[in-house]
Amino acid sequence: MITLITNIKELLQVRETSIDKVSGAEMAILPTIKNAFLILNDSIIEDFGTMENLPDIKADKVIDATGRVVLPSWCDSHTHIVYAGNREQEFVDRINGFSYEEIANRGGGILNSAKKLNETSEEEIYKQSKIRLEEVMHLGTGAVEIKSGYGLTIEGELKMLNVIKKLAENYPISIKATFLGAHAFPVHYKENKAGYIDEIITKMIPQIAQNQLADYIDVFCETGYFSVEETEKIMEAGIEHGLIPKIHVNQFNSIGGIQAGIKFKALSVDHLEIMNPEDIEALKNTETMPVALPSCSYFLSIPYTPAREMIKAGLPLALATDFNPGSTPSGNMNFVVATACIKMKMTPEEAINAATINGAYAMGISETHGSITKGKKANLILTKPISSYYQIPYAFGSNLIESVFIEGKILA
Ligand code: NIG
Ligand code: FE
Repeated sequence: MITLITNIKELLQVRETSIDKVSGAEMAILPTIKNAFLILNDSIIEDFGTMENLPDIKADKVIDATGRVVLPSWCDSHTHIVYAGNREQEFVDRINGFSYEEIANRGGGILNSAKKLNETSEEEIYKQSKIRLEEVMHLGTGAVEIKSGYGLTIEGELKMLNVIKKLAENYPISIKATFLGAHAFPVHYKENKAGYIDEIITKMIPQIAQNQLADYIDVFCETGYFSVEETEKIMEAGIEHGLIPKIHVNQFNSIGGIQAGIKFKALSVDHLEIMNPEDIEALKNTETMPVALPSCSYFLSIPYTPAREMIKAGLPLALATDFNPGSTPSGNMNFVVATACIKMKMTPEEAINAATINGAYAMGISETHGSITKGKKANLILTKPISSYYQIPYAFGSNLIESVFIEGKILA
């Protein structure tokens, strides 16, 4: 089936040849065609150009996009969408003055979600999670990475990864799965950290890899969670089983997690709220994508990733939501892009690059996602009539999306 979209006011992120990511120096440029057409052949982008060069084709469906902007759908490379229940009470506790750390130390936080997860059936977790997945799809997300990490037992982690697998089977968007058994130490291992790490390495990783339930391995490398040494040990075991590292680092403290990630060729290092000059230096000339999660900074009132310093140093940057029940109960990439502009002083061009092609890189799918390129997936956002793409971050509280295309089909 041939779909022709005509009179597009601005067609964003147009790349003639496939690129895997944009570096810091290139992030300011968002290649755009004004007054454009776009042709989709089933699930694939077939052609694009300016309206003067519109070829004489017979389309099965023609969409007039007068006044509207078209861009590749968001690539959300860091989420924890699969979870049970919520943590509304902790939200109120934080309003009343308790910190994220204090709440975690008294058994709340990740352990609270782990308790709920282990008490909830796989069917029920699927039911709750698919609502969130459908919501983010309607908000323009066309590819998503989802982590485990609220099981913290072999059964719980497998349950989560099975839910992720089922979502991937039942929904048309690309889903990458990450094993995050090293998210926190379970209560009964509090005094035996080596014991839990041993369980991750000798039991969880082999079984997960054997059943092909994950693409990536993650560790929460942070004071009070997993040390750099423990993180390295777990990454190494994951790599031995074919899992590529993508790790949580520098959320609250800079303790060397970035350097560890780079050493083990992590595809991405994520959070990066606390960055010292050595951390920025370490990321230069590496293949590791730095990923910022501004809606986490917003929700927890913690610092924002210093995007300007990083881009000035020539680093690329990706943006993702971190959708999870504790630190970011929102999967809205439009809000992430707006917040990156408003709070991190990224330009709209930089933020859109970070949320599309660089997000695709951070989940290993930039060959098929993240730009308007012939042969890539027809995963698109078509906006309502707007004055320019600046509206996307500018009108930060509005939903400007008219329709979402996933694999060439409009989402109902
Ligand atoms: O990315 N920082 C670690 N993990 C999640 C939050 C986990 C939670 O609070 O449930 C994050 O922010
Ligand atoms: Fe996270």
